[in-house]
Amino acid sequence: MIGYKTLAVPGPTNMPNEVQRAMEVPLEDHRAPDFPSFTLPLLADLKTIFRTETGRVFVFPGSGTGGWEAAISNLLSAGDKVLSSSFGQFSSLWVKMCQDFALNVQNIDVTWGEGVPLDDYYLALSADKSHSIKAVLVCHNETATGVTSDVKAVRQILDELNHPALLLVDGVSSIGSLEFRMEEWGIDVAVSGSQKGFMMPTGLSIVGVSKKALEACSTSRFPCGYFSFQEMTKMNEQGYFPYTPAATLLRGLRASIDLLHNEGLENIASRHHRLAAGVRAAVDAWGLENCAIEPKWHSDTVTAIVVPEKYDANDVINAAYHNYGVSLGGGLGKVAGKVFRIGHLGWLNETMVLRALGGVEMAMRDVGIQFKAGSGVGAAVELYTDTRQPLSLAAE
Ligand SMILES: Cc1ncc(COP(=O)(O)O)c(C=O)c1O
Repeated sequence: MIGYKTLAVPGPTNMPNEVQRAMEVPLEDHRAPDFPSFTLPLLADLKTIFRTETGRVFVFPGSGTGGWEAAISNLLSAGDKVLSSSFGQFSSLWVKMCQDFALNVQNIDVTWGEGVPLDDYYLALSADKSHSIKAVLVCHNETATGVTSDVKAVRQILDELNHPALLLVDGVSSIGSLEFRMEEWGIDVAVSGSQKGFMMPTGLSIVGVSKKALEACSTSRFPCGYFSFQEMTKMNEQGYFPYTPAATLLRGLRASIDLLHNEGLENIASRHHRLAAGVRAAVDAWGLENCAIEPKWHSDTVTAIVVPEKYDANDVINAAYHNYGVSLGGGLGKVAGKVFRIGHLGWLNETMVLRALGGVEMAMRDVGIQFKAGSGVGAAVELYTDTRQPLSLAAE
């Protein structure tokens, strides 16, 4: 293919030049005497991205899924009760992992396209007078349906009921992109990965852990060799790791954190909101539906678009890929064939989104979906120009 491919999946995201260049270094000695002068500031700065002062952030070679396992294996024991909800592929897979670990899972099945069921969480937690629920799970941004849930409201419920359960949050497609306040929202474990908001290759499982959660490690009866928070803490305190760290990726992570700092977390969240609003304007103009049922759940990092019933969303994805080199996200689990997804997170600007929207329009025409060509792109163009922001060259 001549020209660039368009990566419009919700992770891996586009990698900034700075991150790529930071990893173009000779392999290094992770036990070198001066390695801590690199890792200690890195680990400290990572806390500012999670917005925790009293917690720690651990970096494991792995991916987001490893972070789910780290949360379970460090903090819980077989038979422990956890409260969860499934409303998409990723929230459901974390629930399945809890079941595989023989936890006693009280799961609430929610219509895909909705978010964490706050009323049901309130009822379940208020009925739990003996505090048998040890942890509450929240998937902050369900990447399969493009739904963002209200983590802060879950914390408020726990506080109002004076319930001591740990709050475990999947922030894989939100941290570094959406507003995320680990300390303020009283999150005990926040799970992320390197390939989304951190704009890096896949390969790091990045996990924020509160002080309360670190204390809870001592009561867990699961073995947790590889993901042990305690072993990691001991070595991280000296700037080292219990086993060979992905040092090259850590160099990329340094550049990624610097970029996030330069732009500022608030600016990043508002950029994501604006770019997402353009995608949503396009979806409306095409006359299609957003899989996220209500605006309060609309994700600013990914939009899942429902195709009209007689069409197969996979045909749109295949046409986009084969005819125009555009990668869109597929429908997963219950929404397979019904939705295609546009990822709009990470190192992204207006024209990159317009490229993806243009690719979607061509692919939809190829499969026969009826809409006015240019209507979605035009709606996004109008929104972006009406709300124009100064061009930041800081990241060049
Ligand atoms: C919300 C969410 N959680 C968890 C995961 C799993 O992460 P990974 O694929 O990095 O293991 C993903 C992956 O896309 C995700 O979007």
